[in-house]
Amino acid sequence: MRLVTESKYLRALVAEQRSNGNTVGLVPTMGNLHAGHMQLVTEARQQCDFVISTIFVNPLQFGPTEDLDAYPRTLEADKNLLAENGCNVLFAPSVEEIYGTDPRQQTTIHVPGITEKYCGASRPGHFDGVATVVCKLFNLSNPDVAFFGLKDYQQFLVIKKLVRDLGLAVELKGVETVREASGLAMSSRNGYLSKQERKNAASIYHCLQNTASALASGNKAFSELEAQAITALREDGLEPDYYAICNAENLAAASSKDRNLVILAAARIGASRLIDNLRLTI
Ligand code: PAJ
Repeated sequence: MRLVTESKYLRALVAEQRSNGNTVGLVPTMGNLHAGHMQLVTEARQQCDFVISTIFVNPLQFGPTEDLDAYPRTLEADKNLLAENGCNVLFAPSVEEIYGTDPRQQTTIHVPGITEKYCGASRPGHFDGVATVVCKLFNLSNPDVAFFGLKDYQQFLVIKKLVRDLGLAVELKGVETVREASGLAMSSRNGYLSKQERKNAASIYHCLQNTASALASGNKAFSELEAQAITALREDGLEPDYYAICNAENLAAASSKDRNLVILAAARIGASRLIDNLRLTI
């Protein structure tokens, strides 16, 4: 596996692959890699000839009171994991390489509508930062297919809209959430949790499953189901940020006519803010 830190070398490597007729798959990450990220790499390898993973802790998507400085940076371990999983190139640029000397002068991308609720409401500017860096990574690596986790479901819809609205020539693939044995969705932010907090955090997935089975059995009392889950999360020591049953295409509040639903959850526990979701068709 090649480690590349400069855009010009990344562009040259991709151009070479493309001129050989190889397809390019991109897996953007912020590092501190785990089995969830590796699932994206595995699917990229299955679908593409040449796999690029990126590690960039993107300052633009962190709010002023968020964990940018504390965010775990584990490049050596990440490099090994990517190499073992058959990644061809790791692009790990500096902040300056991506944003120049004054990130405040960076052109940004705002995806309207879908970014206004849920994580967008709790984390102002977050999705502008995500859309901007993802668009930039697409331009630098010119991939045929880019792989994103469905754990970050709202992020996936934001990127889908970005690609459609700007006519970007990249196919998007959503990859199913990888979980720990307890059901807790794997996340770099699980590392902030104590043993007990980690146990309690599995309550998010249990709530999602309970809500999903109620919906699957025909219960359409959406607000009541949401309220029940919020109570259950609090009982397990979590502080819910939102818990919402939504239309899976546009994240509008679910109506009784909707068939494709997503249950979105975000909750704080200890030093972490965790998100998860469950999609279902009724
Ligand atoms: P990060 O949180 O590092 O996640 C990188 C990718 O891995 C995302 O597409 C995310 O949805 C996926 N992922 C994380 N945990 C997962 C799990 N348990 N199962 C499956 N996939 C999982 O998301 C970001 O970074 C950033 O916002 C980024 C898109 C890289 C832009 O900076």
